[in-house]
Amino acid sequence: MTSVIEVKSLRKVYSRTNKVAVDDVSFSVQEGECFGLLGPNGAGKTTTLEILQGLRKPTSGEITLFGYTWQKHETQLRGLMGGVMQHNNLYDKLKVKECVELFASFYQNYTPILELLERFNLLEKKDAWLSELSGGQKQRVFLAMAVVGQPRLVFLDEPTTGLDPTSRQDFWHIIKDLKESGTCILMTTHYMDEAEFLCDNLAIINSGKIIEAGRPNDIINRTFEAPIIKEPRKATLNDVFLKLTGSSISRESYA
Ligand SMILES: Nc1ncnc2c1ncn2[C@@H]1O[C@H](COP(=O)(O)OP(=O)(O)OP(=O)(O)O)[C@@H](O)[C@H]1O
Ligand SMILES: [Mg+2]
Repeated sequence: MTSVIEVKSLRKVYSRTNKVAVDDVSFSVQEGECFGLLGPNGAGKTTTLEILQGLRKPTSGEITLFGYTWQKHETQLRGLMGGVMQHNNLYDKLKVKECVELFASFYQNYTPILELLERFNLLEKKDAWLSELSGGQKQRVFLAMAVVGQPRLVFLDEPTTGLDPTSRQDFWHIIKDLKESGTCILMTTHYMDEAEFLCDNLAIINSGKIIEAGRPNDIINRTFEAPIIKEPRKATLNDVFLKLTGSSISRESYA
């Protein structure tokens, strides 16, 4: 497999506060993989994602994306990636279709806008202002913006925070489809079920340092010698929510 992302000894010190936000972080992400960065608030996840997206400069360390570096290949890199930023109300003065059109205009090839809006269940909202959407609908628009240019790498920073369980699972399936179409994903999440469902590999970051990394099951097996889960229940409260509110996704599909 080919590495899409190679990060070596990445370090970020915010100069105004002298805060060491990222401290000697190294990892790699392979072609077609969904890689998750997990960790408590303030661990350094967003900082890492912003540096990888070329939005912040690292203090030191080496980053290559598709074999390119931000210093030498900015134009090539912009065309290969898409992203959704955490806490984003930059686009409230645009309508849904305009937002996606704006992002499509950044790329040479893009998915037809109405087709994409239909896939993300946003067609009936195409002329709504972003400020008029619910949190979950907005998140779906951000994802549509991130993928409209058919990027080979997508950055998602807490993409499902605030989504209801049904929207979250709809989102999971969109991500699975993206992965199956060969898109590489780097995401953060505070939902461990989400990380288990979506991520092929994870890094757990704490106070700027990676404290554990690997495949979800391997990490679980390394961390606990004996099982700590007692007799399984027949369903979870999440399943109750999905059943009572009419979600089309059954538990089997994500077990
Ligand atoms: N612009 C900034 N200037 C100074 N310090 C910052 C800046 N942005 C973030 N930090 C600090 O860097 C550290 C890492 O922040 P970061 O946003 O990367 O964390 P995070 O892992 O994404 O957390 P969360 O889960 O809350 O989103 C925190 O201590 C934060 O206060
Ligand atoms: Mg963050």
